[in-house]
Amino acid sequence: MKSHQDHSVALKAKQQGSAIVYVVLAIIIISATAGVMLFKARQQPMAEQGMKMSQVAPATLPEVTVYKSATCECCNKWITHLENEGFKVVSHNKDDMNTIKIEAGLQAGLASCHTAFVDGYVIEGHVPASDIKRLLTEKPAVLGLTAPGMPQKSPGMQPEGIAPQGYDVLTFDKAGQTSIFSHY
Ligand code: CU
Ligand code: CU
Repeated sequence: MKSHQDHSVALKAKQQGSAIVYVVLAIIIISATAGVMLFKARQQPMAEQGMKMSQVAPATLPEVTVYKSATCECCNKWITHLENEGFKVVSHNKDDMNTIKIEAGLQAGLASCHTAFVDGYVIEGHVPASDIKRLLTEKPAVLGLTAPGMPQKSPGMQPEGIAPQGYDVLTFDKAGQTSIFSHY
């Protein structure tokens, strides 16, 4: 009889013990769930804000018109770079790029693959989008910007997202005068 009582007391204690474990587990699960929900609720307004900002940017940037040869792959990649940076780009394939470059006022030695126009300025070659944005803000009295030749570490020539390196972006005017606008 005594041993039976002992056994039932021990069983009760064991049951109480596991009940406490269940309660503790439930509290942990509930607070973890609440924590995740709170975190998500806090994140949401920031995500919405980010979306609004990226929706505003393209509308405030002027459209870029690009002339390039139909087979130019690095030109297409440069266009993608501009679009990623919020520009709307309209692209035209041209057989005679030389005429466009002469009409744009580019002197010999300043040419690259594509020739683009934005807000009255000429953008020649692999100029980073950040330089175009700076040009549109500062509005210097020049014809435009050029990255002569085909710099290997420039947007469109290297994978997107890698910083430009090892070349200069120049301003140029009608007389062929240049000055360094950005040094990479
Ligand atoms: Cu190119
Ligand atoms: Cu190009």
